[in-house]
Amino acid sequence: MKPIEEIRKDFPILERKINGKPLIYFDNAATSQTPVQVINSIVHYYSFLNANIHRGVHTLSQEATDAYEKARVKLQRHFNAKKSSEIIFTSGTTEAINLVANGYASILTEGDEIIISASEHHSNIVPWQFACERSGAILKVIPMDKKGILDLNAFDKLLTNRTKLVCVQHVSNALGNIHPIEIIIEKAHERGAVVLVDGAQSSPHIQADVQALDVDFYVVSAHKMYGPTGVGILYGKEELLNKLPPYQGGGEMIKEVRFEASTYADLPHKFEAGTPNICGGIAFGSAIDYIHELGIENIANYEHKLLEYATQKLKTIDGIEIYGDDNLSKRTAVISFNLKGIHPYDVGTILDKLGIAVRTGHHCVQPIMQFYGISGTIRVSFAVYNTFEEIDFLIESLKKAQMMLQ
Ligand code: ALA
Repeated sequence: MKPIEEIRKDFPILERKINGKPLIYFDNAATSQTPVQVINSIVHYYSFLNANIHRGVHTLSQEATDAYEKARVKLQRHFNAKKSSEIIFTSGTTEAINLVANGYASILTEGDEIIISASEHHSNIVPWQFACERSGAILKVIPMDKKGILDLNAFDKLLTNRTKLVCVQHVSNALGNIHPIEIIIEKAHERGAVVLVDGAQSSPHIQADVQALDVDFYVVSAHKMYGPTGVGILYGKEELLNKLPPYQGGGEMIKEVRFEASTYADLPHKFEAGTPNICGGIAFGSAIDYIHELGIENIANYEHKLLEYATQKLKTIDGIEIYGDDNLSKRTAVISFNLKGIHPYDVGTILDKLGIAVRTGHHCVQPIMQFYGISGTIRVSFAVYNTFEEIDFLIESLKKAQMMLQ
């Protein structure tokens, strides 16, 4: 991997000052920053390629279509899907889960069961609640322990012959825990259930091979992977996608439209009604190129060193409580913590004054906060451009915040 100083030059935003201080961006689990290679691809698209796709015979439309479909193939290869038609562009992870949940709402029948886990993001809870309301299915939850580790014995007991879907995150956005999805997929398949894995937090750090995992649906967002916001993908096995009804009606998702009834296009277009985020899809492809240029394992190894260093330093702060798995080899570079007697929001506000961006609050996982009996946490999450010096400054700043607020 090229040196971190060189990598940092790829990210123009890192030159910014916040409140007069150099920006230290530790909110990568919310969204990662964008390298110039991806920014250039967005500028190039609107400067030279902008046209609607799959619709025109004119050159520009064909060039835009080619670029968009090339990006789909990059994503297919990255996640090792069998076919590019198994890659559906969506607006992000949330839309991808809603697409699947909406489809299953009309397939499930009363008494069918969906299993999720106690550590899911709201976007992998609420769409399934909608599906249960519409179908009469029952939602069950795999419990977790104090470290956020899922109880697989309890999972065994939750699985029944009515289990139709198991929907779990690969990595917890609130705690950084890497869940044993390989085991979960195997156990679910033994009972004939379909598995959806939310890869939003894993995809920037862990190379998922959807065929090796034998996962049925895998969903990710570009903006956590150095790409733009407003675009993501749903990977789905062809036979399952073919069984799902379309999510939205409109142009491009049809074969034939008559007033009596319409028929639908083949994959992937059946799920891509309307003009998509063409530029976003192409830029997502550029973000994948960028990840490949650095090497996802190199990225993960470096981030892991940051995680170890930061954890060890944070532990020296009096009154700190760190949440999540103690075994750092089972975590991505996310650290959620609280300082005793101090509201996370107040700490976040002081850090911001010092130029440090962290996320505070419930991180869209209120059930985890309810489990711990807290209102929220301070979360720092690293990306490949972060440095050990930035962590040193964080520790100094946290100690300062603690003195001011205690
Ligand atoms: N899901 C994103 C996060 O964890 C927004 O911050």
